[in-house]
Amino acid sequence: MNGFTWICARPNNESSVPLSHRIGFPPLGVKAVTANKTSKLVWLTSPGTAPFFDLYHAVREAEGRVQSPESLRSLPSVQTDHPHFQEWRIRAESARLLVADLKSRCAKRVLELGCGNGWLSFYLAQHLEASVCGLDQSIPELEMAVQVFGEQPNLQFAYGDVLDPQFPNQSYDQIVLASCIQYFSDKAQLLGALLALLAPGGQIHLIDSPVYTLDERPKAKARSKAYYAELGFPEMADHYHPCSLHELAPFQPQYRYRPSRLQRFLARLSGKPFRPFPWLVLEREHD
Ligand SMILES: C[S@@+](CC[C@H](N)C(=O)[O-])C[C@H]1O[C@@H](n2cnc3c(N)ncnc32)[C@H](O)[C@@H]1O
Repeated sequence: MNGFTWICARPNNESSVPLSHRIGFPPLGVKAVTANKTSKLVWLTSPGTAPFFDLYHAVREAEGRVQSPESLRSLPSVQTDHPHFQEWRIRAESARLLVADLKSRCAKRVLELGCGNGWLSFYLAQHLEASVCGLDQSIPELEMAVQVFGEQPNLQFAYGDVLDPQFPNQSYDQIVLASCIQYFSDKAQLLGALLALLAPGGQIHLIDSPVYTLDERPKAKARSKAYYAELGFPEMADHYHPCSLHELAPFQPQYRYRPSRLQRFLARLSGKPFRPFPWLVLEREHD
């Protein structure tokens, strides 16, 4: 790994002090490596002041989406009385299909951008013979991910901003964005940066996010504005940027799954949940 890398292991003794406070933010250029290799957080860029991530965490709490370690461990499986049961059924199905696809491509280095609490990164690491990196900038989410999934040997969690020029020039076979692209205002900038991180022939997977037509997008924006106002966080609407096909078009995305009435009918027939969001794949050409 080149560029800046800080490996900070979580101490073996648990304490109530948050992980970020215990390990501190390592200064630029300093490499800290400690003994416990299984509990780890890698700092790929220096932590900035990004008020969005505090706001985002508060919103997640208000939505009842911050998981306990016990419930996080069993995701995407949830009890039938879980408030987001239907959503997790859908997510379980898209995660299962994603794993099958990545397996067939013999992916060896997988990055999940916007891994949050890490459940999907863990799921990928469990099911693939690959090294998986879950990347985010939300310290509370990464703390939880490391606490719950830190023992998985082929999984590493990292803090980093892919748009920061300091982000290490590493290479991945597959990059996954699950329910994440809507938090990036400039899709072209993001996808350009991610394509640069792909090995030739590598792919970016966009899953579990709505993708709108240009006509639908203003309505989606208005709905999210109303939703966050009602939740008590109107400022969050400024950070929510519904994705449009138009923004993705220059990258020639391919549908691996496209929701439709027929798909809804087939899902009903098979007893599987209907997945309302597309699965789009962007590929970096072979050199
Ligand atoms: C809805 S959560 C999705 C978490 C996980 N991928 C999943 O499927 O459950 C979106 C995540 O994107 C992360 N995120 C948003 N903007 C980001 C950025 N610029 N860099 C890294 N992560 C980001 C948030 O912190 C959050 O954890």
